[in-house]
Amino acid sequence: MALTHDGANRTSNAKLLNWVDEIAALTQPDRIVWCDGSEEEYQRLCDEMVASGTFTKLNPEKRPNSYLARSHPSDVARVEDRTFICSLNKEDAGPTNNWAPPDEMRAQLKGLMNGCMKGRTLYVIPFSMGPIGSPIAQIGIEITDSAYVVVNMKIMTRMGQKVLDTLGSDGFFVPCVHSVGAPLAPGQQDVPWPCEPDIGRKAIVHFPETREIWSYGSGYGGNALLGKKCLALRIASSMARDEGWLAEHMLILGLESPKGDKTYVAAAFPSACGKTNLAMIVPPKGFGNWKALTVGDDIAWIKPTADGTLRAINPEAGFFGVAPGTSYDSNPMAMESIKGNSIFTNVVLTDDGDVWWEGMGVAAPAHGIDWQGNDWTPDCGRVGAHPNSRFTAPAGQCPTIDPAWEDPAGVPISAFIFGGRLSKTFPLVYQAFDWNHGVFMAATMGSEATAAAIGVTGIRRDPFAMLPFCGYNMASYWGHWINMGKKPGLKLPMIFRTNWFRKDANGKFAWPGYGQNMRVLKWIVERVNGQVGAVESSFGLMPRYEDLDLEGLDFSKAQFEMITSINRAEALSEIEEIKTFFAKFGAQLPPELESQRQEFGKRAEKAPEVWTVEAA
Ligand code: GTP
Ligand code: SPV
Ligand code: MN
Repeated sequence: MALTHDGANRTSNAKLLNWVDEIAALTQPDRIVWCDGSEEEYQRLCDEMVASGTFTKLNPEKRPNSYLARSHPSDVARVEDRTFICSLNKEDAGPTNNWAPPDEMRAQLKGLMNGCMKGRTLYVIPFSMGPIGSPIAQIGIEITDSAYVVVNMKIMTRMGQKVLDTLGSDGFFVPCVHSVGAPLAPGQQDVPWPCEPDIGRKAIVHFPETREIWSYGSGYGGNALLGKKCLALRIASSMARDEGWLAEHMLILGLESPKGDKTYVAAAFPSACGKTNLAMIVPPKGFGNWKALTVGDDIAWIKPTADGTLRAINPEAGFFGVAPGTSYDSNPMAMESIKGNSIFTNVVLTDDGDVWWEGMGVAAPAHGIDWQGNDWTPDCGRVGAHPNSRFTAPAGQCPTIDPAWEDPAGVPISAFIFGGRLSKTFPLVYQAFDWNHGVFMAATMGSEATAAAIGVTGIRRDPFAMLPFCGYNMASYWGHWINMGKKPGLKLPMIFRTNWFRKDANGKFAWPGYGQNMRVLKWIVERVNGQVGAVESSFGLMPRYEDLDLEGLDFSKAQFEMITSINRAEALSEIEEIKTFFAKFGAQLPPELESQRQEFGKRAEKAPEVWTVEAA
């Protein structure tokens, strides 16, 4: 017996209605709810989750309209080992993605999903990535059995009935099926965070050719909020290749000079390497009248327009940011954005009903409840907040949100910035000699591991910060970037690399970072506008000490040298490592990148043992 539901009153899209019935027949939920995206619906679901124990309502005087959730300890981050790109041909997924034959994977998913929503509600979430109706936006429909996912999607996307109205009777949508993978037997008591605890049974699956997403077993972040990494990066990167645009793991930032000129930059950093910090940067005190305005903190969709500019939108409507380390010192605008109407996952609950985490910049509470729900005191020897604990907050609450952040036409991008987390070898900032050199710099980016993924340790190459997010062959993706540079009439942004993370002999960060990064951004903007000089190193074009505006910062020439000097032996070993890395990609590797590597090798050979800006 098919379940009755309200679908026919909500949409005339026959494809959508049939698909919902098909998924309901497979997953066998107790009921089907079409989400309308209203405040009432949000409130009702939050109240239900408070009643069921999934949510704790925070003290409305301290954190109005905000909630805390604690996940299952097995379900705290993206599961890269269990993320699949199931293209028809293995080669199209490439050597950096997990692949399985689509037919086999479909059979497996059908098995896992069979009856997986028993005892639960199936929610239909219509969402738009990007302002509704923007020519750059895309519609997705997520089916989920998690109310936690529904309320997070309400913050992270434009969600609800207006999306169905825009979709119309035959509009295109990306179908996204999500289940926590925890069916309930009749009478079985639910748990606060249902999921499939066996990581080997979780699966985050993409079918790029048919633009489908299937996710099983996890309720956390990018595993479950399918508009984010699954649609806006993995599926969208595949669409972007086919259609001639870019879907990137980038923040978007507007920089306004004291004269009022606005320059937009887009910057890619690997997960938990400071995109949210840079997206909300506050220029240091006394730093002229520069303004920094936020468009997005995680994802950028970038399209060439008729006049040759590349215009970018933030497809998201909220921030899903790392909590630990976020303080009024490190990121005041994030702290302002999460004052209310926010969801916190896996942080400490204080006895007065507020939240706390390591590095929040306020004294630890004498007692609290940690992310696992246990009593916690500052001296108990455990962290209170999980390192990948996160806040979900509406982007519009950010005090520095750019007036154009919802402009359907997007903002014009003048520079791309790529940055890893690297404690040595790589200088603070350098500019590519040209487009292909910039693509090489981005393709070979590396980073030291962070907490945003399970099971990742040491240094890894994270090309374009897209390693876990590229929906097709990484080498073809590089080829797509190379090809963008060949399009006639395109106004190509300049390309830069930065490294905020170089360490001194004592293992301390040698550059103060955070708001002080504005000094580097200013040099970048001045390079874009041809207002400042640079010297040539084997890596690229670099600022002299006097080219960087260090006014008001106590940062000596010797310190500057410490973060900009280039050790020839380290450079040469990097170039050798790149050779090994490139070898993985075989014939798919664009020849332009190997020639960039060789040119880099020649420059490095000629350089002194220790190259400094001063001596250049
Ligand atoms: P995802 O949301 O996972 O994609 O990552 P994100 O890039 O937005 O990460 P986020 O901004 O949450 O990264 C925060 C981490 O970067 C924290 O560990 C910060 O301490 C660190 N960080 C940010 N900016 C700087 C900086 O300028 N210098 C140093 N040393 N650390 C920084
Ligand atoms: C990342 O890991 O890059 C994130 C968090 O932005 S998640 O949405 O969980 O992927
Ligand atoms: Mn991210």
